This record gives sequence, C-alpha cells and structure tokens, in this order.
Amino acid sequence: MKPHLLIVDDDREIRTQMRWALTGDFHVFQAGDRPEAMELFSETHPPVVLLDLGLPPHPNSPEEGLEVLSEMLQRDPFVKIVIVSGQGEKENTLKAVGAGAYDFLSKPVDIDELKQLLKRCFHVALLEREYHEMKEQLQGDFFEGMLGSSPSIRAVFDSIRKVSATEASVLILGESGTGKELAARAIHLRSSYKDGPFVPINCSAIPESLLESELFGHEKGAFTGAHTQRKGRIEQAIGGTLFLDEIGEIPLSVQVKLLRFLQEQCIERVGGREEIKVNTRVIAATNVDLQRGMTDGSFREGLYYRLAVVELVLPPLREREGDIELLAKSLLQGIANENGKPGLAFDKKALSGIKRYAWPGNIRELQNRIKRAVIMSEGKRLSLEDLELPPTFAPSGLSLKDARESLERKMIQQALQKSSGKIAPAATALGISRPTFYELMKKLGIESHKSIE
Ligand SMILES: Nc1ncnc2c1ncn2[C@@H]1O[C@H](COP(=O)(O)OP(=O)(O)OP(=O)(O)O)[C@@H](O)[C@H]1O
Ligand SMILES: [Mg+2]
Repeated sequence: MKPHLLIVDDDREIRTQMRWALTGDFHVFQAGDRPEAMELFSETHPPVVLLDLGLPPHPNSPEEGLEVLSEMLQRDPFVKIVIVSGQGEKENTLKAVGAGAYDFLSKPVDIDELKQLLKRCFHVALLEREYHEMKEQLQGDFFEGMLGSSPSIRAVFDSIRKVSATEASVLILGESGTGKELAARAIHLRSSYKDGPFVPINCSAIPESLLESELFGHEKGAFTGAHTQRKGRIEQAIGGTLFLDEIGEIPLSVQVKLLRFLQEQCIERVGGREEIKVNTRVIAATNVDLQRGMTDGSFREGLYYRLAVVELVLPPLREREGDIELLAKSLLQGIANENGKPGLAFDKKALSGIKRYAWPGNIRELQNRIKRAVIMSEGKRLSLEDLELPPTFAPSGLSLKDARESLERKMIQQALQKSSGKIAPAATALGISRPTFYELMKKLGIESHKSIE
C-alpha cells in the first residue's frame, strides 16, 4: 500500500502538477482550503503534508496556512509538514518552521528535489512513530491510567489510540466496573479536544423529569423552580468531550432530543428559542444490551447508529489473562500506601483465590475488596478472609469431599442462625427433611445443643 500524502494548495494547477509527478510513489489527496484540508487530514491520516500558506479566504497572507499547521500538529504531533512557499514569503515560511513545520521548499518546485525531501520526511515520520510506540511499551503496562498487558486489553489500547485521532462518536460497552469511564477519559486525553473539559453525566442517576434540563440546560422561568438560566451538561462540554454514561437508561423522550443534537450539532435550552451551536466530542457507555432495547422499542435505532460509529468493548476482568494479579498487586500497593500500611502483601492462598474468582464486579470490585481488606487488616499479609472471598476449592489442596462438606457446613450453620436454632424451619429452608438435617449435623459435627424443635 502506498503511503498517504496530502497536498494543500489553493492553486489547482500546481496541485495537479504535483499529483501527476508524485502519484507513482504516493497515494495523493488534495485540498484547496482549510476546512477541506482538515477533513481529509482526519480521514486519511497522512504522515506527510505539503502546505501552501496562502489559502482562501486570505490567499495573500499566511493566517489560514498557519492555522492548518497548528491544527494538524495538535491532532498528530508526528505529522511532517513541508511548507511550499512562493517568492518573497521567506519571513512567513520561517514563522511556520518556528511553529513546527518540518521543512520548506520554494516555488517553482523542482520535482526531483521534492521527491528526495518527501522520501526523507516519510522515513523520519515512520521512525519517530515506531520509537514512540516502543517507548510506550517499555514504560510498562500503563496506558493513560489503565493498567494491563493481556492481549485483550492491549487490543483495547490500540483501538483507543486509533479512535482518539478521529472525531467519531464512540460507544463503550462492558460489564460494570470494567473501566468504561477510564477509557472515555483516555480517548479524551488523546484527542484534539484534550484542552477542553471532560463532562461526564450518569444518565441513570438522574430522575427522568430532570434529565432533559440537566442535559440541555434551561432558561429562567422555563418551569417551576427554574429561577435562573442554567447551562446544561452538553453546553458545558463545548470544545471538550461529553461522556454519556449508562446511555441505555435514557427515556425515549430525551432520546429524540439527543438524536437531534447529534444530527445538527446544536441545541436549545428548555424554554429557550435560541439555537446554540455545540462543537463537542460525544462518547457514550452502557452495560446493558442496546440491541435488545432496539428490538423491544425502548432504544431508538437512529440514536444507536449515531452514538456507535465506533464500538469499543471492554473485556471483563476474568478474560484478561495475567492482568488480575498485576492489577491486584498494583492496587494493593497504592491503597496500602494511602492508608499508611506500606509493604502489605497478599498471602499465597489469597493470591490464588483472587486469580480464580470470577470478579462479576470487575476492577471496581477488586478495588473495593482490597480497600476493605487493607483497612481491616492488622498483620503484614492479606488473607482470603480479609478479602471476604469464597473459599477456594480443590486446587488449593481440598478434595471434592472436603469442599462439599465445607459448603454443607456453612449452609447448615447459616440456616440455623437464621432460624434462631430451630431445626424444622432450617431444614425447610434448605429443602431437606428433618432426619436428613440431623444426619448432616451429626456427620459434620455441628453442635445441636442450642437447637429447639
Ligand atoms: N485497567 C485499569 N487499570 C487500573 N485501574 C482501572 C482500570 N480499569 C478500571 N480501573 C479502575 O476501576 C474503577 C472502575 O472503573 P470505571 O469507573 O472506569 O468503570 P466503569 O466501567 O465505568 O464502571 P461502572 O459500570 O461501575 O460505572 C475505577 O476506580 C478505575 O480507576
Ligand atoms: Mg462508569
């Protein structure tokens, strides 16, 4: 595949000439003004750009060209931009080099010279990118605050790298506690909106009647209680990223308005007439099945397709081979330090229990269990009991018989506790007869002196 090259020049003839000369070596794209240039840049990710500074609507001054330069560098710090300048533009060219342009050429362009220069540019661009990626890998397994080195989480990091360079809406899917919000922040931090705010809103935590004004804002007097004008979350996110968490919980009435906002990129406050233009990146997340919502009519298909231009799936913790131990140890270290108990570690059984447990609440559950254990612990080692994890079965040396008996003992004791020692209701609760219950108590050596019939 030929490497992508973008030529930005308002002179169609020059563009055509260059394209004709370069098309054998490169996949050439061309743009005649700033909007076109930026659009093509986002779509095609060229590692090298040839840029004429004088672009419409000010073809005789360098403003537009310098703006293109700075926007491109912001979106991709590795892009190599070569300024192609006319006679008498030396000052502007130097300004552009000062602002990050990689090199420059004067018109009329010598095609051989141009080819040599481009070859060098592509080479350097490639090397720099490879170096950067290698460095990132060596720096450990952290990616924008996300820890992990399993193949499944690495694939997520890769996708985040790719989508953050685009403007596409992203829908993040994953069980609760898998890091959906963290991933959304990572995309924001790597995107061209990174200098703007990151505005999260948890759509399920806000009552239906308030959600619309929370999202869109309201004018003074729009409804009872609207004493002042208020900006909504969407408006707060202008120039930044709007994170719509638990998007599956949004009522249909609000879905319609949200869809309109996504289609038209503008909103009206509740009770307002003014159209407010909103330039913001939208990321949504859900842990429910939106496909099912679409089938049963509780989620609008149009909204789904607008939100899910790219879908990012966060794997559950149990499917991230090797990461559980890594995360547990790293979280423990941080939490132990925070609580003034440095050096705290898991004992052997705890570690194998952690690895075997299914973690339905994923990383959030891991974090919470470790927090609780650190606070409660008195020694230097955290045990399975500190973590309140179910006892581990066979592989830790227990036979199947031991495991069964331990479970039976636990259930019988619990049932007795609930029935205040009364045998009949305890046996009923477990679905066995009284004689069987007695038999089990005897076999397991459970004291019956407290029990009353
Ligand atoms: N890969 C990771 N490395 C380190 N910490 C993580 C990672 N993923 C998530 N966490 C941490 O786990 C907790 C839960 O993450 P987050 O809130 O992003 O998940 P979520 O999917 O949005 O969860 P919920 O469904 O509960 O809202 C956070 O404290 C977050 O910092
Ligand atoms: Mg969340």
